[in-house]
Amino acid sequence: MRRKVTVVGAGNVGATAAQEIARRDYADVVLVDIIEGLPQGKALDMNEAGPVLGYEARITGANGYEETAGSDVVVVTSGRPRSPGMSRDDLVTTNQAIVKSVTEQAVNHSPEAILVVVTNPLDAMCHVALDASGFPRERVLGMAGILDTARFRTFIAWETGMSDRDVQTVVLGGHGDQMVPVVSATTVGGVPLAKLVTADRIETMVERTRKGGGEVVDLLGTSAWYAPGAAVAEMVDSIILDQKRVLPCTALLQGEYGIDGLYMGVPVVLGAAGIERIVELDLDANEQAELARSAEAVREIVAVLA
Ligand code: NAI
Repeated sequence: MRRKVTVVGAGNVGATAAQEIARRDYADVVLVDIIEGLPQGKALDMNEAGPVLGYEARITGANGYEETAGSDVVVVTSGRPRSPGMSRDDLVTTNQAIVKSVTEQAVNHSPEAILVVVTNPLDAMCHVALDASGFPRERVLGMAGILDTARFRTFIAWETGMSDRDVQTVVLGGHGDQMVPVVSATTVGGVPLAKLVTADRIETMVERTRKGGGEVVDLLGTSAWYAPGAAVAEMVDSIILDQKRVLPCTALLQGEYGIDGLYMGVPVVLGAAGIERIVELDLDANEQAELARSAEAVREIVAVLA
C-alpha cells in the first residue's frame, strides 16, 4: 500500500507542499480545506501535472477528514498568513482556534500520524497541536528552521560567490525576529564563515535572515510559499523515508539547551518515529544569551493562548 500524507490548508503553502510531496512519488497526498472546490480543484490540477512531471502519486482534495484516514504524516498549514505591518504574533488568536479544530479532526482519523505544524505563530501553534492531539512530543513538531536556515544559506552563498549547497549552518530559536542564526556553526566548504566574510557583513546577513519573512511579506503583500513548501517536503522526506536527517525543526524542549516546556527551533534527528533525538550544539556565550532572549519572546506568545 502506498504511504499517505495529508496537508491541511490548500492555500499557498499547503498547495506548494502538496505538489512538492507528490513529485517525490513515495506517497499519495490528501489536500484538505474548508473552501469548497479549492482542494478538489488544486488536487485535480496536480494529478493532471503527473503525466508531464512523471509522478504517479494520487492527490485527493477534500473538505472533510474521511479521506485522510490512516495518514502517516499530517501537515497543518491552515490559518491566516500575515499581511504587511503584521507580526506573526498578531495571528495567534485566530489561528489557535483553527489549529485546534483541524488537529482534533485529523488525529481522530490518523491516530498514529506525525504532525508537522506550519501555521504561525509557529512555536505557539505547536503547543496548540500538542495539546489538541494528546500525542507525545516525538510526533508533534514544527517547520521553521529549515526555511530560516535556507534564507541564511542563500545570503551566504550570494555574499561568498560559493554554492548554497556547500553552506552548512543552522538557525535556532523561535520563528520570530529573535531567531538565532548560529555563526559559530557556519562553514562554507568546511571553512568557517568568519574566515571568509567580515564581521559587519555577517551581521548584515544575520539581520536579513531574522527579517527574511517580513522582506517577502513587504514585496508580496502575503507571506512566502515556495521556500516554505520545499522545507515542509524535506521534513516529510526524512520521516517517510526514515532518512534520519539532522534538520532544524521546532521541538518541545524538556531541559535541552537549558529550556523546559517550550517549543523552539533546534537540530533534531528526524526519522520514521518523528523526532528521534534532539542535538545539542556548543553555543558561544553570545549565542546562548540570544537563545534565552528568543525563548522569552516565545513564552510571551504562548502565554497569550486561551
Ligand atoms: P493561505 O491563506 O494561502 O492559505 C491558508 C488556507 O487555510 C486557506 O485556503 C484557508 O481556506 C485554509 N483554512 C482556514 N481555516 C481552515 C480550517 N479550519 N480547515 C481547513 N482549512 C482552513 O495562507 P498561506 O500563505 O498558505 O499560509 C498558511 C499559514 O502558514 C499562515 O499561518 C502562515 O503565516 C504560515 N506560514 C508559516 C511559515 C513557517 O515557516 N512556519 C512560512 C510561511 C507561512
